[in-house]
Amino acid sequence: MSLLRYDCSGVSLADLGITDSQRQEVDARLLTARDQVVSDDLVLLDTGEIPAHQQPLDAAFFRLPEALLEDYEQRQQASQLGCILETANRLRETVDAVALLGIGGSYMGTRALMEACCPAYYNELSRQQRNGCPRLYFGGNSLDNDATSALIDRLGGGQLASSVEQRWAIVVISKSGATLETATALRQMLPYLQSSCGDDSGQVAERVVPVTGNAGRLGELADQLGCQDRFPVPDGVGGRFSILSAVGLLPAAILGLDIISLLRGAAEMNEHFRQAELAENVVLQYAAINHLLEVHAGATTRVLSVWSNALNAVGLWYDQLLAESLGKAEQGATPLTTVNTQDLHSRAQQHQEGRRDKMITNLIVERPGSDPLSIGPSTHGEDPLDAIQDRTLPELNAAAIAGTNRAYQMAGRPTADLLLPVADESALGQFFQMMMLATVVEGKLLGINPYGQPGVEKYKANMKEILGL
Ligand code: PA5
Repeated sequence: MSLLRYDCSGVSLADLGITDSQRQEVDARLLTARDQVVSDDLVLLDTGEIPAHQQPLDAAFFRLPEALLEDYEQRQQASQLGCILETANRLRETVDAVALLGIGGSYMGTRALMEACCPAYYNELSRQQRNGCPRLYFGGNSLDNDATSALIDRLGGGQLASSVEQRWAIVVISKSGATLETATALRQMLPYLQSSCGDDSGQVAERVVPVTGNAGRLGELADQLGCQDRFPVPDGVGGRFSILSAVGLLPAAILGLDIISLLRGAAEMNEHFRQAELAENVVLQYAAINHLLEVHAGATTRVLSVWSNALNAVGLWYDQLLAESLGKAEQGATPLTTVNTQDLHSRAQQHQEGRRDKMITNLIVERPGSDPLSIGPSTHGEDPLDAIQDRTLPELNAAAIAGTNRAYQMAGRPTADLLLPVADESALGQFFQMMMLATVVEGKLLGINPYGQPGVEKYKANMKEILGL
């Protein structure tokens, strides 16, 4: 398994006004931060008691990959991964569509995985082309009337399902079990599911799968429905850090993705984070460069520039992680995902000549998933491409990356490259774990608790008060 690479040669700290002593000071703090990330998790493991000044402490995401894999190795079908795989198989055999209801950290990771690892236009493929896996639709992530109504229609609007092709299920994901968007969507969609099951409560119990925390009403509803399967969001794992728990693993397995490789990739990143020297450590280097530029060179906008359409939602997952974790106490860089080459024709002008407030990281997949397409000969000679007709799209994309980086460097705009060998489960597992760890490390450098989201909680409370709930 090869590790993703971080190349920050497009950043000259000295040219950006960062001094050696600033760099050295951050280097020393990085090593302390790494020790703290490891020991935070031990606090949870040892006592379960979290000191007041550290609350909330959702550090358990760190050990999840190894813990789940070890449990699977020891207990196979009886382990949590074994149960996830079994439920995913059962749904794959019995339904052709799944509505995933969840918002924020309860769905963004799954969307990222689906777009990155499933074929493009996945939901439009035949059941056979999907290898018998269900289509997956997202709901409960807004209060958009038309979106909810369209989803209900798409799923058959309660029409009695008489074949696998017509049958659908709900996977409802909410750690708190109390999020209004998700709870509303579940309440609205459940009657349609019940009608589609001919009001057979046994079938409904098979076709609603909750993923939820220990507290909260979703568990009670699951009891009342008699749900056959349900999965936990573990204590100590926050929403946006939960992609490698059942929150992301169950939907990924339903889509037929290799969740063992996903976890192995993440475990490999953990090992690298713990062991690699500072200069080679991709987590610490990424955190250091972005922190130094944000704090000492005004790079308060953090651009993740993805060079595959399929990575758009991966960028949006990182947007949420960064914004909700570090956007506190009037600090934290503002994340922005750009998709290239599409956005070279919209945002790149500003990134090259606008305010000097950006650090750009290119997220690049080195090997495409399908055979390279060449430009090919022209039948009409209508364009100037004859000289490069044998070149392929990956070659053109590489030229666009090199050309853009060169232009940014000529304009003194810092860029770095994050290189995934291929967009598969293993590489994505590495990427997700790397970014979660880097965000926590950055939180330590900034003196911000990356866990919890007090601002979001305030909007939720205000809205409930306005509604008289
Ligand atoms: O990162 C977070 O914790 C949030 O984005 C939550 O995931 C989001 O608010 C949804 O919460 P819940 O899973 O409790 O419905």
